[in-house]
Formats: sequence, C-alpha cells, structure tokens
Amino acid sequence: MTNRRMALQMLRRVYGSAFTIDLPIFGQLVVISDPNDIRRLFRCGADIVDTTDANLGRVMGPNSTFAMMGDQHRARRKLLTPSFNGRRLAAYESIIEREALDEFASWPQDQTFAALPSMMRITLNIILRAVFGAEGQELERLREILPRGIGLGSKLALIPVPQWDWGRWSPWGRFLQYRREYDAIVDRLIEKAWADPGLADRDDVLALMVQSRHEDGSPMTRDEIADELITMLAAGHETTATTLAWATERLQRHPQLLDRLVADLDADSEELLNAAIFEILRTRPVIDTTFRQVKAPMLQIGPWTLPEGTTIAASIGLLHADESLYHDATRFDPDRFMTRRPDPAEWIPYGGGLRRCIGAAFATMEMRVVLRTLLREYVIQASSVRDEGWQTRGVALAPSGGALVSVRRR
Ligand code: HEM
Repeated sequence: MTNRRMALQMLRRVYGSAFTIDLPIFGQLVVISDPNDIRRLFRCGADIVDTTDANLGRVMGPNSTFAMMGDQHRARRKLLTPSFNGRRLAAYESIIEREALDEFASWPQDQTFAALPSMMRITLNIILRAVFGAEGQELERLREILPRGIGLGSKLALIPVPQWDWGRWSPWGRFLQYRREYDAIVDRLIEKAWADPGLADRDDVLALMVQSRHEDGSPMTRDEIADELITMLAAGHETTATTLAWATERLQRHPQLLDRLVADLDADSEELLNAAIFEILRTRPVIDTTFRQVKAPMLQIGPWTLPEGTTIAASIGLLHADESLYHDATRFDPDRFMTRRPDPAEWIPYGGGLRRCIGAAFATMEMRVVLRTLLREYVIQASSVRDEGWQTRGVALAPSGGALVSVRRR
C-alpha cells in the first residue's frame, strides 16, 4: 500500500502479467498489463465493460462524465469533444503562453525551488480561463476555493459517504460548504455567458455547454454544467501540472538532451519536444492505473474468464515499464519516439477505449506550449542530484521533492 509501483512490479515478476490482488477498501482487483489484454479491454463496448460502480462521480456529482455510463456517457462525450479538438485547441495557445510567462516571471534566478506549486498555478489558471471562461471576481474566488475543495474531495472519494450529518465543521460538512459557494459562482458565470453578445464566438467549454442541446432539444441544466466543469478541473489540473513538474525533474538530469531541445526550438522545430513529452508520459505516468468493471455476464481476456462485476485494473505503470516493448525501459530516452509515434496499445498515459481521457489533446498541447515557453525564455540548469521518487498527491503521482529545479534567464 505504501509503495504501489514497486509492489506491482514485484507481483508481475512473481505471477506474470495478470494477477488478482485483494486491497483494503477497494476489494478484489484483477490487474492486467499485457498489451494484448489491454487492447482487448479497451475495445469492449459499454455493454461489456464500463466504469466501476464506486467512481469519482461521488464527489464530482451525478452529472459528471466520471459518473455516467452507457448511452448517457456516450452522449456527454459527443457534446464535450468539440471543445478539446482542432480549431478550439489552437485558440487556447495564447492563453497558455500568457499564463506561463506570468508565472515564470516570479521564479527566483540561480536558486533551487520546487516547480510543482508553480505548475499547479499555471494549469489552474489555464483551466479556469479556457474551460470555465472565468475572469475578474469569479476567477479570483475560484482560484482560492477550488484547490482546497478538490484536495478535500479527492481524500473523501476514498472513504465511504457517511449515513448521517456530522455538522458543518466535519470534512463532509466543509466539502458541502465549498460546493455551495462553487455552485453560486457557476450560476453567475452562466448568467454572464447568456448576457454576452459574443457568446457564439467564445471558445471556453462553459460557453459551449450553455449553448448545447441534449438529443431531445433541452438545454444543459446548471447542475449538469457545474458537475462537468468541476470534473474537467479535477481531471485536468493536477494531472497536467504534475506531468510538467516531472518534465523539469527529467530534463535537468539530461543536459545533452536539453541542449538539443533548445537548438531544435530555436530552429522552429518541435519534433524533439513532442518526443520528450511522449517519453515523460511513458516513464512518469501520473495516473498509473485505470479501472473498469465487467457489465456483461462474462468477459474473456486472454486465457481468463472474468464474471460480471469483476473490477479490472489496467496497469499503465507496468505496461510502460515492459522490457519486451521498451528496451532498457527505465532509461529516459525521447529518441524512442523520434522515428515512430506511440502505439496506442503500448503507450496509454491517457487510458484508452470509450473512456480515454477527453482532455488528452488539450493536455499535450498545454504541456508543449508551457515547456516551449520555458525553454525559450530560461536555461534549466543541469543537475546530478539523485532522481526524485514517486509520491501520491491527490489524484496524481508526483515527484517527491516537488521537482526541485534552478533556472536562469536566457
Ligand atoms: C497530463 C495530463 C492528463 C493525464 C495524464 C490524464 C489521464 C487520464 C486518464 C488515465 C484517464 C482515465 C482514462 C481511462 O479510464 O481509460 C482520464 C480520464 C479523463 N480525463 Fe484526463 N488526463 C490528463 C489531462 C486532462 C485534462 C486537461 C482534462 C480536461 C480539461 C481531462 C479530462 C478527463 C476526463 C473528463 C476524463 C474522464 C473520461 C471518461 O470517463 O469518459 N484530463 N485522464
């Protein structure tokens, strides 16, 4: 329980790529890590496997993508997908560059500091602007209450919901207070959106949701919009920030690569940066497992027959560390991805199948823009300090020192 990654590696060495483990709170899990088994899992329809019954919808609310299953989930994905693709993605680049530059301006020069808190501020502001469409007072207040509310929520997600009221100072009571204030702010954002004559031209996800219609023609309710916005924030803020923190942790330990990256960017090429992002996501996946539950009477995966109700954990961490797929798998080597793009059955930092991360393209673009801005403006100083370990933080696995780094303006 205290060193999940090492425990899983050990279990794979002893039992092979698939095994069952019994965990406190979670119960029994069937862990799979063979690429063929994972491919088979991700190809299943929602009538065969879907999200687990105990999912993050408990804290995000019943209208969150996390909570939905089957046709309802498919319809919600259809509604949200346009926000995270094509033209809209390009529209977010300038917001991201601005936020990154503002935050980097506060960085000390030639002094070691932890990059993670900075990355958390950058990705929070980006989501509040690009997804919530928030500015002014609403932006300020959301910036204060959301990190606290989400931090508490991600801890509460792991324990059973109490059957009685523990009062306003209990963790659940405090969580509900945050939620009430959050709902009131979302109400104001929706009212402002309706009053905005430029609503049709806006690119934020809130604006898109306000204008969207369900298949029966009805608009999304306030509760639906509020649950979905908090879902995007919880799913996209810490995961992206933590991956960016790992990027600074990795790059400073590979000075030759850093030099090549800077030269490549100076020559207006992002090829090596893209490969480095793929390799950071492979070697330091911040979500190392994704869960499904068997909904059909039976599911056959490889030689295994899994009965209805079985919880399956597809191990991202084990797959990415598989020596038969990646030679010298623990070595950080972006050149692996210079000649080939990642194979979707062997590289799954964003999960896969019908529930693959909806923000994957957004997150990859966001990390590319933040890192490009960082490398163009600053020199990341090389470090020979030991690699940072893994630490569970809220939803993501973060570098244990918070990604200590020292920089100097170029
Ligand atoms: C580096 C950043 C990110 C990583 C590593 C990541 C990873 C993941 C993973 C592993 C899943 C589970 C997929 C599965 O079960 O197959 C997921 C789901 C999800 N992610 Fe991300 N994510 C990131 C950023 C984002 C961003 C920026 C957003 C939105 C703004 C987002 C929104 C979501 C949503 C809504 C889901 C649930 C999808 C569903 O159940 O249909 N994520 N993410």
